[in-house]
Amino acid sequence: MRQAALGELEQTANQQQLDELRVKYLGKKGALTEILRGMGALSAEERPVIGQVANEVRAAIEGVISAKQEEYRKAETANKLRAETIDVTLPGRPVPLGSVHPLNKVIQEVEDIFIGMGYQVAEGPEVEQDYYNFEALNLPKNHPARDMQDSFYITEEILMRTHTSPVQVRTMERMKGEVPVKIICPGKVYRRDDDDATHSHVFTQIEGLVIDRGIRMSDLKGTLLQFVREMFGQETKIRMRPSFFPFTEPSAEVDVTCMMCGGSGCRTCKQSGWLEILGSGMVHPRVLEMSGYDPNIYSGFAFGMGVERIAMLKYGIDDIRHFYMNDLRFLRQFARV
Ligand code: PHE
Repeated sequence: MRQAALGELEQTANQQQLDELRVKYLGKKGALTEILRGMGALSAEERPVIGQVANEVRAAIEGVISAKQEEYRKAETANKLRAETIDVTLPGRPVPLGSVHPLNKVIQEVEDIFIGMGYQVAEGPEVEQDYYNFEALNLPKNHPARDMQDSFYITEEILMRTHTSPVQVRTMERMKGEVPVKIICPGKVYRRDDDDATHSHVFTQIEGLVIDRGIRMSDLKGTLLQFVREMFGQETKIRMRPSFFPFTEPSAEVDVTCMMCGGSGCRTCKQSGWLEILGSGMVHPRVLEMSGYDPNIYSGFAFGMGVERIAMLKYGIDDIRHFYMNDLRFLRQFARV
């Protein structure tokens, strides 16, 4: 039996054949098991002799089975490893990546500059109450300056905000008379305009507001100069022209040296060397007062700029509609800017 078993085991090629032989010899009805079961019928002298032989045969069979088993296990592992080998030199599957929209790029850049000067970013709703958009900014009903900003009204008291200045009012209310107030607020604004290359009924502004004791016009000028230098280059200069906004007094329109020609005059700046980029001024005492800041103690400045205009100047974009057309050929150009 030993020879027969070892001979057959020698022939096996896989785990299954091995298992079959294990059953054949060592299983419940196996040949060796049969012999062991018959031991009771033997005489007292025969029993130890046959028992010893049977145990040796069992040990020999088990030894070969476990050696073979080990062999098959190793072969199987090797096969598996070979099958699952990853070729790390193969090119990866490309993951489609979007890019930051040029308007958001400009917003992020402006935010970074002002955060560096200690400002916080504030937000407000695009659907706004007449009170915040006009009243509290010193634009009472029937004020002629309301015509400057043709509005989309939803009800008599609710409209799409026409500028980001209502966030000034909301911020002052939220701060409850605390100082300093130093915020910038980017966001969408809406005006009844016919869309063309330079007009859009939806566009983006960034508002700035600072309130503290002793804030002066020179602080506004210094802040804006610092901003344009970081935004457009250290050589950039600013020019302030008297202007009018109901919520600032005095008010100033701010120009920067044309970044296309460096100030010598070109088509972009209509040969003037200057480009208008924002409106600004000292917060009107009535505006401070209406939102809980005593104008005898506190003063402040505010400014508002158009993000599309800055992006168009910065990237040489000639039509504001590009920002909203979602033409991938346009957007992809900003993937690595
Ligand atoms: N809100 C003004 C506009 O949209 C810009 C502005 C903001 C002017 C803050 C002065 C101060 O035209």
